[in-house]
Amino acid sequence: MLILARRKMTDRAAQRALTEASDRITAMGVVQRRLLHDPESRIDLDAFLHIFCADLEKALGIPIACHGERLQALDSQTISSIALVVQEFVSNAVEHGARPDAPMTLTVRMESRGFDRGAVIVEDDGKGLPPDFCPGRSLGLALVHSFVQSIGGAFDIRNRPHESGVIATVEFPLTATGRRRAP
Ligand SMILES: Nc1ncnc2c1ncn2[C@@H]1O[C@H](COP(=O)(O)OP(=O)(O)O)[C@@H](O)[C@H]1O
Ligand SMILES: [Mg+2]
Repeated sequence: MLILARRKMTDRAAQRALTEASDRITAMGVVQRRLLHDPESRIDLDAFLHIFCADLEKALGIPIACHGERLQALDSQTISSIALVVQEFVSNAVEHGARPDAPMTLTVRMESRGFDRGAVIVEDDGKGLPPDFCPGRSLGLALVHSFVQSIGGAFDIRNRPHESGVIATVEFPLTATGRRRAP
C-alpha cells in the first residue's frame, strides 16, 4: 500500500518518507516473524542478530560482518527494540555514509559492559557525520531514542576517532531489574 502511494507522489521528500516508513514496517515484520515462534521465551541476542544481519544484508545488498561476545538471553521485547535500533543505524550508514566510488564495510558487534549490561555497536567506514549533525532532530534517531528508552538503555553516535566513518552504539541492561519502568 505504501509502495503504491509512493508511486503516486511527486514530492521527493514525501517519497523518501514513505519509502522509509515502508522499510520500517518491513523490518518490524521481519523481527516479529523471527520472534513469533515463542514470544515468552528468552532469546540469545547473538544468534538472533546473526540471522537479522543476514536479512539486512540481503535487503540492502551490502556485506555486514556480525560478531562478538555471547551475552545472556534476553526477552523478546528487548531483542526487538535492539533489532530495530540496529536497523536504523545500518540503514543510516548505507543512506548517508556510502560513497559512490568505494564499497562500504559495515560491522555489527556485541560486547558485554560490566556484569549486567550489554552493547551492540554498528560501525561503518563511510563519509562520517555532517558538521551540523544534531541527534533527535529527525525521525530515525528520535525512534532510536524511544526504542532505547523503552528498554532502559542508552545510545551514542559519533565519528570514528582515527578513521573515517561512524560508530553507533546501543547499550542496554541484561536483566529486567536494570530496566526503568515505563512512565
Ligand atoms: N552512519 C552515518 N553516516 C553518515 N551520516 C549519518 C550516519 N548516521 C546518521 N547520520 C546523519 O544523521 C542524520 C540523522 O539521522 P536520522 O535521524 O536517521 O534521519 P534521516 O535518516 O531521516 O536523515 C542523517 O540525516 C545523517 O546526516
Ligand atoms: Mg535515518
